Amino acid sequence: MYRVLALLRQTDGFLSGEEIGKQLSISRAAVWKAIGKLREEGYEIEAVTKKGYRLCTPQNLYNEQELKTGLQTKVMGQNLAFFTELDSTNNRLRELALTGAPEGTLVIAEKQNAGRGRRGRVWTSEADSGIWMSLLLRPEIAPEKASVLTLLAGLATAEALEAETGLPMEIKWPNDILCHGKKIVGILTEMDCEMTQVHFVIAGIGINVNTKSFPPELADIATSLYLESGKVFSRKPLVHAVLEKIEQHYQAFLDSGNSFAVLLEAYRKRCVTLHKQVQVLGQSPYTAYVLDITPEGELLVQKEDGTQEVVYSGEVSIRGV
Ligand code: BTN
Repeated sequence: MYRVLALLRQTDGFLSGEEIGKQLSISRAAVWKAIGKLREEGYEIEAVTKKGYRLCTPQNLYNEQELKTGLQTKVMGQNLAFFTELDSTNNRLRELALTGAPEGTLVIAEKQNAGRGRRGRVWTSEADSGIWMSLLLRPEIAPEKASVLTLLAGLATAEALEAETGLPMEIKWPNDILCHGKKIVGILTEMDCEMTQVHFVIAGIGINVNTKSFPPELADIATSLYLESGKVFSRKPLVHAVLEKIEQHYQAFLDSGNSFAVLLEAYRKRCVTLHKQVQVLGQSPYTAYVLDITPEGELLVQKEDGTQEVVYSGEVSIRGV
């Protein structure tokens, strides 16, 4: 049926059942059946006697076929698996990675029933409201360098969403994306490695797109593209823009010998944590002033006694912005 869809897509106007059948070497009955299935999936196809079929532009279709169409990347998302419901896209992608899935493999779900956030938290992932996806990277780097990929994914996602929606996107170190001070994207990066070598990294990205409301305990700190703009967004162009930006930044990272330095300036500009007083939460929490982000993606802070310290993303979290 997707071959019928491809033909209709290529055609401006109507295409007769006979012509479709001829081009695909299938019967008119098979054409009719394919049209029926496409309609069941939500494609609007107009049928007019003596003229044939015409595809009305699909508005908000969000499925594997749609997501694969028009994606301008070489690697990211080229191997794509879409699920209507999963426990967590990170979990599913991990299984695929362990059985040899290639770099750039994307798992995306309409709904997650056990979406995971950082620090063991739950990530609410309802149907029709957001983008819940995980991307597989296989960089040849040492495990201690992998945390910059978290920053890279955050930067790329922020840039892509700002370009697509016109809404301002800021980053709370290491990779929460904020819009007008509220969290709009969360990223959960997980890694499989041995002592000196990373096997793979999973970047799990959750974007609140059309969420209409949040529970009271989250309403002050979480938001969605819809709540910030009053507009309902189609998710496919957003997924494409994020993947294309990640590919661009990942390539720059690899080309520069696995260095985040090439992206540091762009990251600094968006980072709201920089030059702020923050609470470094860990075993013994303390207050500090953020001096800089290092080329390794760490936070350089000055404590109240004047001493400086480097804060690693995996170790602590930051409160205060
Ligand atoms: C955070 O706590 O800020 C991180 C949230 C990450 C959520 C995404 S949604 C897609 C992927 N699958 C998951 O289970 N979690 C991540």
